[in-house]
Amino acid sequence: MHQFHYKDQNLHCEAVDLAAVARLYGTPTYVYSATTMAENLARLRQGFAGLDLQVCYAVKANGNLAVLRHFSNLGTGFDVVSGGEIRRVIAAGGHLHTSVFAGVGKTEDEIRLALENEIFAFHVESEPELGRINHVAGRLGVIAPVALRINPDVDAGSHAKISTGGSGHKFGLPLRLATAAAEAMGKLKHVRLRGVQLHLGSQQTSVDPLIGAVTKVAPVAAELKRTHAIEYFSIGGGMGIAYHDALASGRAEWWHTQPPGKRPASPEEYGAALVPLLAPLGLRIMIEPGRLLTGNAGVLLARVEHFKRGAGKNFLVIDAGMNDLVRPAMYDSHHEIVPLQRDTTRPALVADVVGPVCETADCFARARRLQEQGEGELLAILSAGAYGFAMAGRYNSRPLPAEVLVQGSSFELVNARESFEQQVANEKIPAFLQ
Ligand code: LLP
Repeated sequence: MHQFHYKDQNLHCEAVDLAAVARLYGTPTYVYSATTMAENLARLRQGFAGLDLQVCYAVKANGNLAVLRHFSNLGTGFDVVSGGEIRRVIAAGGHLHTSVFAGVGKTEDEIRLALENEIFAFHVESEPELGRINHVAGRLGVIAPVALRINPDVDAGSHAKISTGGSGHKFGLPLRLATAAAEAMGKLKHVRLRGVQLHLGSQQTSVDPLIGAVTKVAPVAAELKRTHAIEYFSIGGGMGIAYHDALASGRAEWWHTQPPGKRPASPEEYGAALVPLLAPLGLRIMIEPGRLLTGNAGVLLARVEHFKRGAGKNFLVIDAGMNDLVRPAMYDSHHEIVPLQRDTTRPALVADVVGPVCETADCFARARRLQEQGEGELLAILSAGAYGFAMAGRYNSRPLPAEVLVQGSSFELVNARESFEQQVANEKIPAFLQ
């Protein structure tokens, strides 16, 4: 469910007319709905009711400080993967003592920063990493809490580039080595085993892979509870959202009319399938959702530059590019594109919707049917709240886009469009060229 809908034929985010936002702040601009994020979180907590649940929002999905503050106010911890993300959580007023630090290549500096800020746990991916954490903790004279990330060798059924739970992936420890790694920790004086974790991959649409993975890892979690008194089991993130039919998926009825298989599994379905498997463990259960909380809570506003007739096909050239939203170019992902001002009397056009970047990959949609669009008209690319701005870059020396947060009828710029001066601030011409 989400808070993007037409009111009098004008696309609104909550009570805010998106055309007004585009006029005020220009385009391309990301707009996020704070209420949608809060509702997504509430729905997830409801789905897993009955468990001692710790939600750690995956900062990588959308790390804007305002978004992080919002989740911190709503009582989540965070799943961080870099020193930069740790600093973001702190800058937003969030807490590290309810947050976890994941990733296969944590540096000594990052480990120190996490320890100094009393991280809840490191999600450890290898034995050498365990040694490194032990070493840094020893130098600081502290004990580092850790959880072992287990690679369950289960196919997430998602896109190959965002699947992580197979034996051929770089992530986690093989299941058969997990208890041995826990035993080996006995020799390390500055680490303490606090939990186990798994993460299968992102944009999963069926509950089955997670059921399979939890079924495999739960016996290890039970054993480590007995032998090492672990406190929690994290089942990772990865719950998918509706990219097709994205506008309709904002309404509760849509979820009832679409048969499972035609839509992603809902938080309620995840809960119904997993709570019975997890509750008997008597452990705290952690979830690390990113996309589920922010994906459908954001859109990217863009303006039409030209309608161009090509040889055999047409192109709608817009002012957002693959540097602003790279998902279609990188994963061939589908995003719905809708006009800010709907006019059902207009004829339709069929065109590739493309950006201005000098690459054929700079394409948001192929042969897309849209209402006829002229220069200067405004569009929204939907389901862009997760891995949108977070993966944006400056390719073609384009500035990072602006970000706006809406709540009810209030909205505020939460990240100004990058200026040219900011873009080149760290560059210089060396003395030998002057
Ligand atoms: N936990 C771990 C250990 C992860 O690696 C990830 C995502 C998450 C949680 C959050 O996953 P989510 O709930 O958001 O699916 N750039 C890609 C997605 C990459 C996901 C990486 N890891 C995309 O645009 O689809």
